[in-house]
Amino acid sequence: MSESNSKDMQFNYIEHLQLDKLLTAQKFVSPHPEESVFVIMHQSYELWFRQVIHDMERIIAMLDKHELSQATWLLQRIGRIFQALDTQLGILEMMSAADFQEFRPYLKQSSGLQSRQFRKIEVMGGLCETQDAAYEERVRAQWPDLMDEVPKTLHAAFVDVIDGCPLRLIEIYQKRWERFDLFSLCEACLELDRQLLTWRSNHVRMVERMIGDRAIGTGGTQGSKYLTSTTRYRFFPELWEVRNALTETSGGQTG
Ligand code: HEM
Repeated sequence: MSESNSKDMQFNYIEHLQLDKLLTAQKFVSPHPEESVFVIMHQSYELWFRQVIHDMERIIAMLDKHELSQATWLLQRIGRIFQALDTQLGILEMMSAADFQEFRPYLKQSSGLQSRQFRKIEVMGGLCETQDAAYEERVRAQWPDLMDEVPKTLHAAFVDVIDGCPLRLIEIYQKRWERFDLFSLCEACLELDRQLLTWRSNHVRMVERMIGDRAIGTGGTQGSKYLTSTTRYRFFPELWEVRNALTETSGGQTG
């Protein structure tokens, strides 16, 4: 490869990825050396949230067009993104609790609670449909325009697909190898819920490790207690409920 050729490629790489902006976007508010891992961790999350929103928009459109294979494939990939994000928490857990406390006051009211993209992912998933009215009220109070950006949710698109097929949800599971397309879609949706739930649970454990289980968050919530309450959230409650139905069908008891 000639030298000019390699310079062109380098130029394209830097330009295409906008590295000048990306690598100068770390503004530290404290002199503490451990603030860097905290900032870069959150920034990398926000980048992946951007990708998840992009893919969720595509999946909702695909489900509406009954393109089940591609929708399932992308749902599985979002599951993997959340799995990777969960693993990443381990990096941040190697910032010691004492180090964190040395720069935490500099964060003032800054909190993950202010992640608009995270809330948008929840709304796109369908939490305003599957949770109580208080959830939607909180979203509207914090982000008045957010709901308008989500004309249809993943949950609603999924329900439309299931309602439009001749089988009930439980029958899709019972006839899983005959209707592998629908079964795979259901499992990809459940897996997405599962991975997000794993992240939520591990985030709570990390919070307790960093600031304790009684600390008030920088965003003003009850910290670990508030976050624990969010581990009941599901995008696809019917897919969790169908497990009870399967237990009952086989003669097992449910409470
Ligand atoms: C030292 C590490 C961390 C601590 C101590 C921490 C602490 C907290 C606390 C206490 C809350 C509750 C809201 C509040 O009152 O502030 C919260 C919410 C949140 N955090 Fe973290 N966090 C940490 C790392 C992260 C990371 C790496 C992310 C990735 C983006 C993140 C994303 C979020 C989100 C999205 C919420 C809102 C959750 C919801 O409302 O359901 N946090 N965090």
